[in-house]
Amino acid sequence: MTKAKATLVVRGIKQCLTMGTGDGPRVGDEQNDAGVIEDAAVAAAGKEIIYVGPASGLLREIREAPDVVRIDAGQGVVLPGFVDPHTHLLFGGWRPAEFGQRIAGESYQDILAAGGGILSTVAATRALGEEELVEIGRRRLHRMLTMGTMTVEAKSGYGLSLEDESKLVRAACRLAATEEVEVVPTLLGAHAVPPEYRDDRQGYLRLVIEMVESLADRVEFVDAFCETGAFSVEECRDVFAAAQRAGLGIKLHADQLGDTGGAALAAEVGAVSADHLDYISPAGIAAMATAGVVAVLLPSVPLYLMSQHQAPAAALQRAGVPIALATDFNPGTSPVESMAAIVALACMLLRMSPAAALVAATRNAACAIGRGDRVGSLDVGKQADLQIYAVSDYRMLPYRFGQLSPRIVIKRGGVVLDCGGAAG
Ligand code: NIG
Ligand code: FE
Repeated sequence: MTKAKATLVVRGIKQCLTMGTGDGPRVGDEQNDAGVIEDAAVAAAGKEIIYVGPASGLLREIREAPDVVRIDAGQGVVLPGFVDPHTHLLFGGWRPAEFGQRIAGESYQDILAAGGGILSTVAATRALGEEELVEIGRRRLHRMLTMGTMTVEAKSGYGLSLEDESKLVRAACRLAATEEVEVVPTLLGAHAVPPEYRDDRQGYLRLVIEMVESLADRVEFVDAFCETGAFSVEECRDVFAAAQRAGLGIKLHADQLGDTGGAALAAEVGAVSADHLDYISPAGIAAMATAGVVAVLLPSVPLYLMSQHQAPAAALQRAGVPIALATDFNPGTSPVESMAAIVALACMLLRMSPAAALVAATRNAACAIGRGDRVGSLDVGKQADLQIYAVSDYRMLPYRFGQLSPRIVIKRGGVVLDCGGAAG
C-alpha cells in the first residue's frame, strides 16, 4: 500500500485531545472522555487529516510531501478548533448602559418591554449598511480566530424586516465565502416583534414566514426566541413548519428565562439543538434525550443577567442529552467572544469536567450545527482544524479562565496564525 503524502505534520504533542472517532455527539459518561493521546503526532494532506496517533507510529503510516510544513508543538496541547454554535455575530452598537441598569436591579424583560434591549440593537443595526456589517463581522471573526474559534454559527435577528434580515444574511454569507473562520448562517426573524408591528403580531409572524421562504437558499437553520415576552410555543411552531417546508434545520432559544415548554417543542419538531435551557423541566430533559436534540448551554448569559440560575448540566448529562457550549455572543446578554472563557464558566458554574466542557466546545458543538462529520474532532478524514497551546495539561485552559490563547492556529490544514515562542 502506498503511504499517504503529508503536507503538514505536527510533532512534539504532549496531549492530543482527539474528541474520539465517529461523527455523532458524545453523551453521558462518554462526554467526560476527550480522547486524549499522549505523545502524539498529527498529519494532514491538504485540508484533511491522514494520521492522528502516537508519534511512534507516524512514519509507519505516512511519508512527507516535498513541500511538507513541519510543526513542533513543543510538548504542548493540541485540540480541534473551537466551534461556536450560537452567536449573534452581526449587530450595530453595544449596550453598556443596559448592563449598568441590570446591575442596579432592572430585569432583562422589563428593559425589552420598554423598547430597549434587543430593540435598541435593532435600531442601531438597521442604520448600518451591508458593507459596514461585513467589516464589523470580519474584525469579530478575526478576534475569535486568535482565540481558537474556527467555525461560527451567525444568527440574523437584529433586522426584523425583510430588507434588514436579508442584509444581515447576505453579510453572513459574504463572510462565509471570504473568511478563514467558517460561518454558518441562521435566520432569527422571530427574535422580537419590531415596533412597527407592535399592534399586529399576526402580521409580523406572516412576515417571518415570508423571510423563511425568501432566504431559504442562503441560510442553513431557522431559529426562534421561544419565551414569555418574545414568541409563544404555538407561534414558534408555525415558524418551524415553514422552516421544514423549506428544508431547513431548526434551532431554538428555549427555556431561557422560565419554563415555557421550549425544550419539548424542540423535541417535537426534531430541532438540531435547543439552546439556553436554564429553566428546562425534567419532562423537557426527557423529551430532548429521546429525540436526540443537542443542548447548547450558554453559561455567560445568566451571569450577565445577574442571575444565579444556570442550566442543569449534570441532569442533562445523566439523562443522555449531548451538551454543547457556545458564547451566545451578542450586545445584551453576552458580549463574549472567547470559547475558552465559556469552557471555564462551564467548569465552574455548571460543574462540567474540563474534558466534558472541551468536548462540548468542539465535537458536540459541531453536532449542534450539523457538522459533526467534518469538524470538532481529530480523526482520519476530518478537516485539519487544530489549535496548539503552550501548556502540557489541557486542564490549564479552564483553570487559567480563558486567558490562554493558542500559539498556533491551523485551519483546513494550513497555518493561519503563528504567535511564535511559548506563551504558557
Ligand atoms: O440569546 N434571548 C434572546 N436573544 C439573545 C439576546 C439578544 C439581545 O439581548 O440582544 C440571547 O440571549
Ligand atoms: Fe442567543
